Amino acid sequence: MVAASGADARKTIHPLFVRVTHWVNAFAIFVMVLSGWRIYNASPLFGFEFPAGFTLGGWLAGALAWHFAAMWLLALNGFAYLAYGLVSGHFRRSFLPISFGGALDDVFLAMRGLLDHAPGRYNAAQRLLYIGVILAVIVAILSGLAIWKPVQLQTLTAAMGGYEAARRVHFFAMAAIVAFLVVHIGLAVSVKGILAPMFTGRAEAPR
Ligand code: HEM
Repeated sequence: MVAASGADARKTIHPLFVRVTHWVNAFAIFVMVLSGWRIYNASPLFGFEFPAGFTLGGWLAGALAWHFAAMWLLALNGFAYLAYGLVSGHFRRSFLPISFGGALDDVFLAMRGLLDHAPGRYNAAQRLLYIGVILAVIVAILSGLAIWKPVQLQTLTAAMGGYEAARRVHFFAMAAIVAFLVVHIGLAVSVKGILAPMFTGRAEAPR
């Protein structure tokens, strides 16, 4: 989509729909993760708790209220993003083709500081990570539903291996999302010229 004008030969590299859903999603994920950590602390699955200062909701009921409120935002916004991505061709254009070898090559190039980041074109590692995190969010939502309504949605809960297994699936989906975010936010703030276009949409046209 070209939006260049006169002296400013820049292009719209992130469609408005993607930008709006991305930032709504980022907000919803932060609320879900931090309130989820408070809910986890009420009945830890593993031998540790999350530091109270990094949790949201104050107490179990408060955290559940935040978690369920953000859940609707995440699910509705996520559905809109998926529908747009599939119908408009955004996913096909931006995330395909997928190449595991290419992603590995890009990681090695990035580690040596040699990875060229062309605005508006995701490299192979980014494509794989973005598809991976979208799948992790879907798994988090499905496993969350399985532990929220284990009686009404017993087929889903059974497909996850039962209630206890679904809790673990939910935890590891969260862990995958948080691991993605550490890398994603780290790169977004350290690689020059990629954060601003995610707000404005515009950047130098990719060559
Ligand atoms: C403070 C939090 C976040 C920041 C600063 C951030 C930053 C960015 C930036 C700068 C891009 C564009 C990258 C580029 O042009 O090379 C991007 C894209 C993307 N981010 Fe984030 N992000 C954040 C949170 C999240 C979260 C929570 C998720 C998902 C769980 C996410 C998933 C994605 C995806 C899937 C894309 C590709 C979007 C598309 O083109 O369809 N981000 N993000």
